[in-house]
Amino acid sequence: MHKRYWVIALSSLALLAVLGTARPLLRRQTPNEAWQGALTDPAFLPDNRKRDAEYRTKLVLAAIDARPGEKIADIGAGGGYFTFKLSRLVGNQGMVIATDCDPKALEYLRGYTRSKGFRNVVVRAVEVWDPGLDTPVDKVLMADLYSFRQAGETRDYFTRLHRTLAPGSKVVVFQSHSGVSSSKGWFGSILTGEEMVASVKGLFAVEKDRRFARAPSGLDWDAYLIVLKRI
Ligand SMILES: C[S@@+](CC[C@H](N)C(=O)[O-])C[C@H]1O[C@@H](n2cnc3c(N)ncnc32)[C@H](O)[C@@H]1O
Repeated sequence: MHKRYWVIALSSLALLAVLGTARPLLRRQTPNEAWQGALTDPAFLPDNRKRDAEYRTKLVLAAIDARPGEKIADIGAGGGYFTFKLSRLVGNQGMVIATDCDPKALEYLRGYTRSKGFRNVVVRAVEVWDPGLDTPVDKVLMADLYSFRQAGETRDYFTRLHRTLAPGSKVVVFQSHSGVSSSKGWFGSILTGEEMVASVKGLFAVEKDRRFARAPSGLDWDAYLIVLKRI
């Protein structure tokens, strides 16, 4: 009997030790793994009519408010759902820099850009911790990156972004599954809207901050849409 208790106690301790070390490791690894399933979900591919019809998509496009001639960075472009819409909106005199850290997404973006003849789209490989913009852009879109998980790392990232952008440049951050109203979203440790706002303090001013609660249907996820202006 005693032996059994000892076995249970020791196994529990071993499990706690594993969890104790695994958690911070996971958290550290997560940004580098980012969410790279963009090509497995049709929602992230260009010309997805269902996503076009979504209220939140319309709000994201309204927030970025792309104008002819503008230079816009679509960071974490994935399959280019927003990239090619932005390309049409900025027109021949404008430019869209579509970045991603996933080689598969980059290959898809390059293929689509070439096959459809988008001349104002530049596809660029970046590291997850670095916006990778070497010249200023007018606006930046970051839609559903799933990579901001720790306040310190997020601040470092936005500090780099701040260095490249001119004062007044706009940055739109849209993030689903952010766990704003429920205990935690599916992707648990993504920064909440509050944490995101706190992470950019002193670098970017908050122009708009909208939170979306998960709809009772369960299909519309917790999300936030934050519009920032480079100070
Ligand atoms: C869920 S998809 C969203 C794609 C697109 N923005 C959209 O809304 O359809 C996320 C994409 O962002 C990329 N990604 C995540 N974090 C990134 C980062 N820090 N820099 C560049 N790409 C990133 C992933 O590789 C993936 O292709």
